[in-house]
Amino acid sequence: MQRVKTSTIIDSVILSADNRWAKLLELLSEMRISKLFVLTDVNTSKHCFPFLKERLKGFDLPLLQFEIQAGEENKNLESASRVWTQLTEAGADRNSVIINLGGGVVTDLGGFVASTYKRGIPFIHIPTSLMGMVDAAIGGKCGIDYLQYKNHLGVFQQPASILIEPQFLNTLNAQEIQSGTAEIMKHALIGDREAWQMMKDQEGFDWIDVNTLHRSIDFKGELTSKDPLEKGLRKSLNFGHTIGHAIESFYLNRKTPVPHGFAVAAGILCESFLSQNHLQLSRSEFTQIESYILRQYKRMAFSKSDISAILHCMKQDKKAQDGHHQFVLLKSIGEVVWDKVVEDKDIEVALMHYIDC
Ligand SMILES: NC(=O)c1ccc[n+]([C@@H]2O[C@H](COP(=O)([O-])OP(=O)(O)OC[C@H]3O[C@@H](n4cnc5c(N)ncnc54)[C@H](O)[C@@H]3O)[C@@H](O)[C@H]2O)c1
Ligand SMILES: [Zn+2]
Repeated sequence: MQRVKTSTIIDSVILSADNRWAKLLELLSEMRISKLFVLTDVNTSKHCFPFLKERLKGFDLPLLQFEIQAGEENKNLESASRVWTQLTEAGADRNSVIINLGGGVVTDLGGFVASTYKRGIPFIHIPTSLMGMVDAAIGGKCGIDYLQYKNHLGVFQQPASILIEPQFLNTLNAQEIQSGTAEIMKHALIGDREAWQMMKDQEGFDWIDVNTLHRSIDFKGELTSKDPLEKGLRKSLNFGHTIGHAIESFYLNRKTPVPHGFAVAAGILCESFLSQNHLQLSRSEFTQIESYILRQYKRMAFSKSDISAILHCMKQDKKAQDGHHQFVLLKSIGEVVWDKVVEDKDIEVALMHYIDC
C-alpha cells in the first residue's frame, strides 16, 4: 500500500496489494459514512458495477448508483449538473462518500462533482480503464471540459483512496488499451529510460502486464506527491499534451471524439520533433520514438488546412502564458525541461511533419 503525500486536505492511499478489497472495507468503516454513492458510466455500470457490489457486500450501507453517458463528450457541465441534482435529491450530506467507478471521464467528473458539492465531500476512485489506472485517477486533478476546451474547469483534490483492480481490464476493448498505453509511454519517456528500453521494440499491446501497470502507477504517484499543485516537476507530465490536448479538442469540436491516448501519442510525436530543434534531442532517440508511435498508433487524419484550427484550440490551454505556448520538451529520453516557449510557426512545422512522416 503506497501513501501519496500531498499538501492538499486528504492524503490518498493507493490500494493495490492482494488484500485491497478488505482494506477498502476497513477504510469505508473508518469513514463513518451516511450514504455511499457510486458513479459509473453506462459501460462500467454493466461491466464493473456487479463486481464492485459483490466485493462490498459485507458493508452495512446500500450502494446508491448514479450513471452518466459514456465518452469524453459527456465530461461536461450538463453531466456534472445532473449528478449534483441527483445527490441533492438523494439527500447527500457532508458525510456522504462517492466511489467513482470508471475510466478517466468518470474519475475526472466524479472527483470534480464531489469536490464542489457542499464545499467538498470525500470520494474514492476505482479506475476501470488502463488510462484511469496509470494516469487519470492518480494525482488529484479533477475537472470537466467547458466550451470547446479540455479540462477547463477543475480542482486539485485528492481522493480518500484509489483502488487498483486489474481484473477490470478484462472487459476493456483493444482501442482503450492502446489509448492507456500512450500514458505509459509518456511516463517512460519523461523519466524511466529502462521502461522505454522494454517497450520500444514491442509490437501490439500484449506485453502490458501487472508489473508494467504498477511501474507506471508508482511513477505517477511518486512524481505527483513531490509536486502536487504543479509548481514545477509535475509539469513534466504534460509532455505530449500541449499539442495532444489541442488535437483532442479539435476532434471533440467536430463531434468526432478520439480516445485521449491517441491524441497524446500524436502530441508526443510532434513534441519530440520540437525537442530535436529546441533541446538537441538526438536524431536516433527521436527516430526510436517516431517509429514506435507510427507502428502502434494509426496516424490521425487531420490535414494541413486543419492546422490553424488546432493552433486555435491551443490558445486556451492552461499551460499558455501571455499567449505563449509553454512546452515540456525532451533533452534526451528520460530527461525533460519544462516551461519552454515555442513559437506558433515552429508548432506548425511539427504538425506538418506529423502529417507527412
Ligand atoms: N486527471 C488526470 O490527471 C487525467 C490524466 C489522464 C487523462 N485524464 C482524462 O481521462 C479521460 C480519458 O480517460 P479514459 O481513456 O479512461 O476514457 P473513458 O473514461 O471515456 O473510458 C474509455 C471507454 O472505456 C469504457 N470503459 C471504461 N472501463 C471499462 C471496463 N472496465 N470495461 C469496459 N469498458 C470500460 C468507458 O465507458 C468508455 O467508453 C480524458 O478525459 C482525459 O482528459 C485525466
Ligand atoms: Zn493524458
